[in-house]
This record gives sequence, C-alpha cells and structure tokens, in this order.
Amino acid sequence: MTQHHKTQVCIIGSGPSGLLLAQFLGQAGIETIILDRRDRTYIEGRIRAGVLEQGTVEALEEAGVADRLYAEGLRHDGFDLAFDGTRHRIDLKALTGTSVVVYGQTEVTKDLFVARENQGQRFFFDVSDVIPSDLKADKPTVAFRQNGEDHIVSCDYIAGCDGFRGVSRAAIPADVLKTFERVYPFGWLGLLVDQPPVSDELIYANHTRGFALASMRSPTRSRYYIQCDLSDDVSDWSDDRFWEEFATRLGPDTAANLKTAPSLEKSIAPLRSFVSEPMRYGNLFLAGDAAHIVPPTGAKGLNLAIADIRVLSQALLAHYKDGSDHHLDTYSETVLKRVWKVERFSWQLSTLMHQFPENTPFEKRMQRAEFDYIASSEAASRTIAENYVGLPLE
Ligand code: APR
Ligand code: PHB
Repeated sequence: MTQHHKTQVCIIGSGPSGLLLAQFLGQAGIETIILDRRDRTYIEGRIRAGVLEQGTVEALEEAGVADRLYAEGLRHDGFDLAFDGTRHRIDLKALTGTSVVVYGQTEVTKDLFVARENQGQRFFFDVSDVIPSDLKADKPTVAFRQNGEDHIVSCDYIAGCDGFRGVSRAAIPADVLKTFERVYPFGWLGLLVDQPPVSDELIYANHTRGFALASMRSPTRSRYYIQCDLSDDVSDWSDDRFWEEFATRLGPDTAANLKTAPSLEKSIAPLRSFVSEPMRYGNLFLAGDAAHIVPPTGAKGLNLAIADIRVLSQALLAHYKDGSDHHLDTYSETVLKRVWKVERFSWQLSTLMHQFPENTPFEKRMQRAEFDYIASSEAASRTIAENYVGLPLE
C-alpha cells in the first residue's frame, strides 16, 4: 500500500545544500521532508573540501549552526601560491579586509544534522526509485521507495539538492535543459593524516611534476593532495610513494617541515567544471552540485552550494511570508550569474596551477608569466583574493 505524505517543500538530497535549506525553512516554520538515497553515517563520512567563505560562515551562523565552527574552525588571513619553488602569499586580509575559515565540510554536515534533529522534522534515508513528477502542477509530487514500501509526497515545491548524480536535474525536459561541461585530463589524489600541517596556511603549488596542495583540518590533522593521472588507482600509490612525490612538488624548503605518518584515508577524485541551465523548471528548483560542479582548486563547491541556498531560502520565505513570487521567478537567473563567475575563477586557478599533458612549451611559459604577474602586481593578487574570500551574492 502506498503511503501518502503532505509537506510544503520536499527536499531531495541530504548533503549540505538540502540540510541548510531545511534548516532555514524550519526556522521560519515552513514544513519540509528530506529524502536521501544514503544513510546518515554514510553522508557524514564523506570527505570533501574545507575552506569557508565569510558569507558561508554568516549563513551558517544565521542558521544557528556555527557554534562549533567558531570554536574549532581556523581563521586564515592568507594562503600561498607556489610555482617551481617560488612562493607568493595572497594576503586576503590586507587585499580584501576579510578572511576565510578552515573547517571541514564533513563537520558542517554533522552540525546541520544535529540541528535538523532538534527541529524534529521528517527525514527518509536509504530511499530508492525517487521520481519527481508534475513539476508544472500546483502540487508536484515525489515518489520513492523505502524498505519495500511505496511513498508519495505531495508538496508546493521540490528542491533538487541531490548532487551531480541525482535525479532532479534529469527530471527537467531535455529540450529545456542546457548543460556546459569541461572534464580535466587529471585527478586529485588526497590523503588525510594525523600530523600538524606542513605550513600554517594553505599552499597551492604548481611544479613541473604536477600540482600539489597542502591543506588542513585542524592543528593536528592535515589534508594533502597531488595531481595524478586519470588512469591511476589508489592502490598504485603507497603512502611512501605519496610522501616522496608530495615533498618533491612542495620543494625542499617547505618539505623540510613535512611530518609524515600512516594515512587515515586516501582517495582519487576527478576534476570537472559543469553548469546546467535553467536552475528552475516549474515548481522544481535545483541547488548545489545538482546544478553545477567546480574543480576543487579554490574550494568553491560547498560555498557555491550555500550561496544558492541563501537565495532560494529567501525566495521561498518571501512566497510564504509575503505572498511575493518575484524572487522565485528570478532565482535561476540571479544565482546563475554568480555561478558562472565562480566557475570562471575555479577554472582559471585550475588552469594556472596544474600540468596539462597537452600544454606546449608556449602554454607553460604563459602559466609562468601569469604567476610572475600575480606575484608582482597588487591588482592581480587582489583579483585572486576577492574571488577566494567570496564574491557578493548578487
Ligand atoms: N535520491 C535521493 N537522494 C539522492 C539521490 C536520489 N536519487 N541522488 C543523490 N542523492 C543524495 C546523495 O546521497 C547526497 O547525500 O543527495 C545528496 C547530495 O549531496 P552533495 O553531493 O553533498 O551535494 P550538495 O548538498 O549540493 O553539496 C555541495 O558538497 O558535493 C559537495 O563538492 C560539493 O562541496 C560541494 C557541496
Ligand atoms: C581541503 O582542505 O580539502 C581543500 C582545501 C582547499 C581546496 C581544496 C580542498 O582548494
């Protein structure tokens, strides 16, 4: 027998986008149901980037989930770009007046789950066969299965927060949806280790052998990455091989401070730029990775998702509280403008900092010239800095 449910907003996907939207709506007394095809332990275990823009921090504070972030997050006033051993500091604070906070996305997700529990609203985990329908009707529906039972949710709006491989984007008719994509010819091999970071701030390095990034999760836990081949498998990379390659790419001066230990986690992620337009179809609204992907250089994925949710939650609030649909009507156009600017930055930083197999000696010289220009020009450094700390919402 099919179980019927009614709610105001049905949120597909319980990543940071879906959880934050639920939290904002819950604060305003708007009812939501969240569905996810995974369970909470799996979702909380996913390791992703960890740099929060000031706007993201403010959004999490407004959502009432910033206490642990303020206690445990590390405020960073700058970071380094390095090119064949030459380091240039981007002084975020001096160039923009603001800074970023290093706090893992895993932790953001955990904080949001606790808040959701406190609100006591409905969750369905481990669901399958999720089908959003009747998107242009007054009451769209979302069908799904859980533990062998069929469910159907009738709602006012569907929020498609189900990530890159979700079903929401695919529910938009093919003749309406436009997609734009670039797949990069390499991946990132990431390693997590319980050792103090090699440097107090992040270092993004372009070395002739490939990109490397030194990041962190806390004063005693580091997150390091190196560019690897798409054909590589994690099993090709013993810890020893990783450490040797990472140290080489950082250069001897920086590597002198590197402390190694057995890895806690090691994984390979591909790099992709992707945007789909529009981000609204009828009463379905897409947000976060469901609509766009950025390569991780610059750590914009989570921040971009949160920016979507800030705009979408305000638009839904205007509908329910003031009866105004203007912000829902302009949602897609408004957020896509910013999405494309952030796509541009992530693509540009990725292009500058990696070794591309197809690059000719001319393009390699162009990379070097761009780095030298950034290192010698306050205007160029500020351009990087203002993007890194986060562009304004509109
Ligand atoms: N039905 C229900 N849930 C689904 C489905 C589906 N068919 N497909 C995917 N999901 C769930 C996933 O299990 C996941 O928990 O949707 C959620 C999507 O979460 P994320 O992928 O984290 O996407 P988002 O919340 O937009 O977060 C954006 O997280 O993915 C990173 O790099 C990204 O940092 C960015 C941020
Ligand atoms: C991370 O800490 O995982 C991280 C930091 C910065 C990035 C990407 C990833 O640009």
